[in-house]
Amino acid sequence: MKTVGALLWEPGTQSGWSVEEIEVDPPERREVTVKLTASGICHSDDHLDTGDIPLGWAPILGGHEGAGVVTEVGPEVTELTEGDHVVMSFLPSCGKCRMCVSGRSNMCDLGAGVLAGFAPDGTHRVHARGKGVGAMSYLGTFAPYATVPVDAVVKIDPSVPLMPASLIGCGVPTGWGSSVYAADMQLGDTVVIFGTGGVGMNAVQGAVHRGAKNIVTVDPVAFKREKAKEFGATHPVGSFEEARQLIEHMTNGQGADRVIITVDVARGDIVEQANQLTRRGGVIVLTAAAPVLQRDVQFDLFSFAMSGKRLQGSLYGTTNSKNDIPLIADMYKNGQFKLDELITKTYKLEDINEAFADLRDGKNIRGVIVYDD
Ligand SMILES: NC(=O)c1ccc[n+]([C@@H]2O[C@H](COP(=O)([O-])OP(=O)(O)OC[C@H]3O[C@@H](n4cnc5c(N)ncnc54)[C@H](O)[C@@H]3O)[C@@H](O)[C@H]2O)c1
Ligand SMILES: [Zn+2]
Ligand SMILES: [Zn+2]
Repeated sequence: MKTVGALLWEPGTQSGWSVEEIEVDPPERREVTVKLTASGICHSDDHLDTGDIPLGWAPILGGHEGAGVVTEVGPEVTELTEGDHVVMSFLPSCGKCRMCVSGRSNMCDLGAGVLAGFAPDGTHRVHARGKGVGAMSYLGTFAPYATVPVDAVVKIDPSVPLMPASLIGCGVPTGWGSSVYAADMQLGDTVVIFGTGGVGMNAVQGAVHRGAKNIVTVDPVAFKREKAKEFGATHPVGSFEEARQLIEHMTNGQGADRVIITVDVARGDIVEQANQLTRRGGVIVLTAAAPVLQRDVQFDLFSFAMSGKRLQGSLYGTTNSKNDIPLIADMYKNGQFKLDELITKTYKLEDINEAFADLRDGKNIRGVIVYDD
């Protein structure tokens, strides 16, 4: 079908997004077509434009955080039907590989290939100007229709509104799970969260759910600090130095139990800052994406080893999408999870470059593209 999508023709050059006509193919084996209601603007899409995450293909259709209604199912799809309300998960889960069956579906074998943005056999479901288009996470939610693997869509309760539900496709579980699962926060913990944007604000929600006693958030943007308080941060501060003094005072010099890194771009110095704030035997969780080619990290290896700390990488918050996406949707429905409060501004697809400018300027917790009926 002919529709419109936001493409990067020259990823890595900060050329911005081109909204233009695209052709979306019907679903093939184990695929479905989804009519999207909304797509969140996650910082990972901006990494494609800046080149921090190079995909090795152009053009790329962006977007990996969406929700909508299934309009067509391909052959051998038994678990979904037309009309189902779904969240599109930025990582698929096949349910069969070793990672999936051992409860680590965030690291499903299928997920390893999706960043390339096309089907495992090298074909494309999206075309523009006569060329095959790669899709972010093999989803491409910056278009009102997407044909995607059934393993990357998760059915939710149809009474949950799809606009806020779109955020459960990436930023919400990634941040929340970073606290709840990757950091394994405990009742009464003192924690520090670096960066309270669309991902980090959900790390704050996770810390609240886990019963953390002190939730110190660090963000240089005043608006983010105000919002962090609304989400349950007990001590929002603007710099590492302020956090250092606060943690020193709060913990009698012992250090924080858990420190989570959810800044926009992970640079080599932030891991050492987190290390300095962490107590003996504590956990540092790295969720933010670093530039793919970055290799330099400043790190006090001696004290890290001698104080028995753990540095934990966190993909998708270590969540299991088929369990955690419906769980978060249900918690939202019960009033136990804040989603509406994450949405600072909505945009039309044609205004997507404004949405990315606002992301870079720190104006939004989450900007969301909303599609017309
Ligand atoms: N690991 C994963 O599975 C996964 C999934 C989704 C996103 N991500 C990554 O998570 C990161 C955050 O994404 P987002 O959408 O929340 O971005 P965002 O732009 O909404 O938020 C980032 C926040 O970090 C703040 N910040 C910048 N430098 C800081 C510093 N030195 N100290 C404290 N705060 C600082 C910014 O002011 C901003 O509020 C990105 O790198 C994104 O690519 C990772
Ligand atoms: Zn994302
Ligand atoms: Zn799998």
